[in-house]
Amino acid sequence: MSNKLQNSNTQTPNPKIILASDHAGFQLKKVLLDYLRKKIDVTDFGTFNEESVDYPDYGFPAAEKVANGEFERGILICGSGLGMSIVANKVKGIRAALCTSIDIAKLSRQHNNANILVLPGRFMKEDLAQKIVKVWLTTEFEDGRHQRRLDKIQKFEEKRIK
Ligand code: RB5
Repeated sequence: MSNKLQNSNTQTPNPKIILASDHAGFQLKKVLLDYLRKKIDVTDFGTFNEESVDYPDYGFPAAEKVANGEFERGILICGSGLGMSIVANKVKGIRAALCTSIDIAKLSRQHNNANILVLPGRFMKEDLAQKIVKVWLTTEFEDGRHQRRLDKIQKFEEKRIK
């Protein structure tokens, strides 16, 4: 990550990011790609135009690539952000956070160690989305009591998903 996005809280100096959307998130994805490409290593996983597609076809594989470590973090966009959130949070090891404000984006990193950011393409202004992405990529997990809570989620996941 370049200095433009980096701050003293950044955990990994150069995280690999995967970005994916359905048709309803395509426009915002394009804007974020242009913004991020100047700063970090980002991969566009599609969709590549505004033809109607199904968000699970992009959300599941992108989330799996974060879960298996191919990418450190992901950003998923659909119309409301709800479909991509539901999909991503079904993948073991994913903590996807639908963020509509800078404060929530910051908390999703500090308290939840979110590894996927979800944005609502049809309900978010481009400049706010850029600010959210910047904060989300540069905020560190606070650990401590928050890790204890994440451990409980992981334990539940281990029990439920074989
Ligand atoms: C697509 O029309 C829309 O349903 C999708 O982008 C998303 O908002 C679903 O949750």
